Amino acid sequence: MHQKLIPVAGNDYLGLAVDMRLKEVMAQAVLQSSISPMASRFSFGLTDMHKQLEKDLASFFEVEKAVVMGAAYHGGPAFFHAARLQGYDLVLCDENCHANIFLGMRGAELEYQTYKHLNNDHLADLLDATKGRKVVVATDGLYGISGEIPDLKEIHRLCTLSGAQLFIDDAHGVFANGETGKGIAEFCGLAPNDAVILGSMSKALGCSGGFIVGSSEWIKGCLNSHICRGTAIPSPAIAAACVKSLKIIQAEPDRQAQLHQNAQTMREAAQRAGIAVAVDNSPVVALSMKDEFQAAGLSQAFAEAGLSVPYFKYPSEPRHNLLRSVARAIHTPQELKTYGDVLHEFTS
Ligand SMILES: Cc1ncc(COP(=O)(O)O)c(C=O)c1O
Repeated sequence: MHQKLIPVAGNDYLGLAVDMRLKEVMAQAVLQSSISPMASRFSFGLTDMHKQLEKDLASFFEVEKAVVMGAAYHGGPAFFHAARLQGYDLVLCDENCHANIFLGMRGAELEYQTYKHLNNDHLADLLDATKGRKVVVATDGLYGISGEIPDLKEIHRLCTLSGAQLFIDDAHGVFANGETGKGIAEFCGLAPNDAVILGSMSKALGCSGGFIVGSSEWIKGCLNSHICRGTAIPSPAIAAACVKSLKIIQAEPDRQAQLHQNAQTMREAAQRAGIAVAVDNSPVVALSMKDEFQAAGLSQAFAEAGLSVPYFKYPSEPRHNLLRSVARAIHTPQELKTYGDVLHEFTS
C-alpha cells in the first residue's frame, strides 16, 4: 500500500530521485562498472567518476576540495577527526544537532558543550568563556524535521570574533536552498569559505551518500579518519548519477523555485485550516499539532487520501507534536489540492 501513496514527506526536495535521466545514467554505469563499490577509496574503490564528482562538488561550492562518503551520517566522525588533528579541543553545538555530530564529537573524544536550540545569545555567552581554546561551533543548516533555519550570519559573526571554526551539517539544505543552491549558508549570506559544510547526496540530489566541502587542509584531515579509510564510498554508478544530478540542478534552477512555491502553497493551506507551521521559509512544512496523537491521526488521514506523510518519533527532534510534511518540486496542483483538502477536513 505504501508504494501507491504519493510522498509528501521524505527528502526528495527537487524530485530528482525519480528523474528518468538519472535512472538512465545510473543503469548505464552499472552495466559498464559494478553495482558495488567493491572496495574502500584507498583500496581501488575510488574511480575516475568519484574523482569527477569530488571535483564538481568543490567547484559547485567554490571551495578547494570535497570528499564523498557512503552517507552524510559519516560526516560528523570524519570532520571531528580532522578537527582533533588540527588541535581543536572544544566544540559548542546546538542541543538539537543531528546525531552524526554527537557521534563524531564523542568518537574523536572532543570535549563539547551544547547551547540552547537556535539561541545565539547562549552561544555568545559560551564563546566568551572559551578564551585560549581552539573551538569548533557546530550546527545543522536546515533542521530536517522542524524545517528551522538558524541565523548562520550571526553565528558566523560570533565565530569570527572569537576565532572559532564553523561546521554546518546542511544535509537537508544543500542544492535546494540559497540563490545558487549552495544551501542554507548561502541563503543566510555566508561566503563559500566561511564554514566547512557537510551535505547529503541522498536528499535534494536524489541519489545516495554524503560529502564534506572545505579547504584542502580540512579535507585532508577528513580523509585521514577511520570512517573514510574503513568504509565503502558510494558505487561508481551512484557517483555517475550524482554528477548528472549536479548538472541538472545547475541547468534547471526553476526546480528550486517550484519547490519553494509548493512549500508556500502547503503553508497557506495549513494556515487556512488553522494549523500552525513551525517556520515560514523552508521546504519542510512541519505541522504543529496539539500532541503526538493528533499528529499521528493527521498522518492517517493523509494516508486515507492517498498521501504519505508518516508520523514517527523523529530522532533529534524533541517536539513530538510535529508532523513533518515536505514540499517537492514535482508535486502536481492536484496533489497540493488534496493536501489542503485533508487539512481542511481534519480540522473542520
Ligand atoms: C541533519 C542531518 N544530517 C545528516 C543526515 C544523514 O544523511 P544521510 O541519510 O545522507 O546519511 C541526516 C538524515 O536525515 C540529517 O537529517
